Amino acid sequence: MKQEILTITENEPVTKTVYRMTLTGEGLEAQKPGGFVNLRLKGLFLRRPISVYDSEPGRLTILYKTVGKGTEQMAGMRPGERLDALTGLGNGYDLSKAGEAPLLLGGGVGVPPLYLAAKKLAAQGKKVQAVLGFNTAEEVFGEEAFRALGCGVTVATADGSRGVKGFVTDAMPAEYSYIYTCGPEPMLRAIYRAAKTSGQFSFEERMGCGFGACMGCSCKTITGYKRICREGPVLEKEEILWDD
Ligand SMILES: Cc1cc2nc3c(=O)[nH]c(=O)nc-3n(C[C@H](O)[C@H](O)[C@H](O)COP(=O)(O)OP(=O)(O)OC[C@H]3O[C@@H](n4cnc5c(N)ncnc54)[C@H](O)[C@@H]3O)c2cc1C
Ligand code: FES
Repeated sequence: MKQEILTITENEPVTKTVYRMTLTGEGLEAQKPGGFVNLRLKGLFLRRPISVYDSEPGRLTILYKTVGKGTEQMAGMRPGERLDALTGLGNGYDLSKAGEAPLLLGGGVGVPPLYLAAKKLAAQGKKVQAVLGFNTAEEVFGEEAFRALGCGVTVATADGSRGVKGFVTDAMPAEYSYIYTCGPEPMLRAIYRAAKTSGQFSFEERMGCGFGACMGCSCKTITGYKRICREGPVLEKEEILWDD
């Protein structure tokens, strides 16, 4: 983990409520796929965790949805403004387990952390398939970006206004070698039940203090409780024990 002051170079809406922000910093290292940063915002005690969307040395891109005080403050920020960020957080996805045809399943703001994984897997020559799930057509983002990497992309919307009608589990292909996923917990549970292979699940929804003190993010695993902010956010399918 590293604390750095980063400079905003881009902050543009990609849908009505989701923004893409690019930040630069001299000492900023390349971040892990599935990792996250924790941003300090004016007047807010707790930092806000946001996944790494894309990253290379000196540059970081995030995609965030405006849901409350912190993300609304972010949406009002302009290029040239600075943000205090804790970087290098999270265990991230282990891409060595992908096999030849990994399946990436993202729901809503669970889509962003899969992009860098897709980019790296595509660069390794893997046949990457992505299923991106949203409530409705106007919320859809990321489709073109994943396609530009050479991934097969299927969009699913709960109301059927775009792509397959239903959830990401309704649009899963028949064949795949491994699963990487991130999204709301009901979606993760459904994927867990539907999965034909092993996989890695990112639990973004569970977070309180963000620095290991409150236990509010704890998930039950076969080796005891794990704090999503410290030992996660990614858990292996085989270690997850769901709360009833
Ligand atoms: C590891 C991790 C990675 C994340 N990555 C992303 C990302 O890439 N893009 C993105 O848009 N969001 C992401 N989130 C969610 C993001 O952190 C929250 O949306 C944000 O902290 C809300 O802050 P706020 O001040 O705007 O809202 P608040 O005023 O704090 O809350 C407003 C509403 O949002 C809900 N909320 C708060 N946190 C979460 C959460 N973690 N999940 C779902 N609902 C929440 C609250 O219950 C409340 O109803 C991630 C969360 C975690 C834990
Ligand atoms: S969010 Fe408080 S311990 Fe993880």
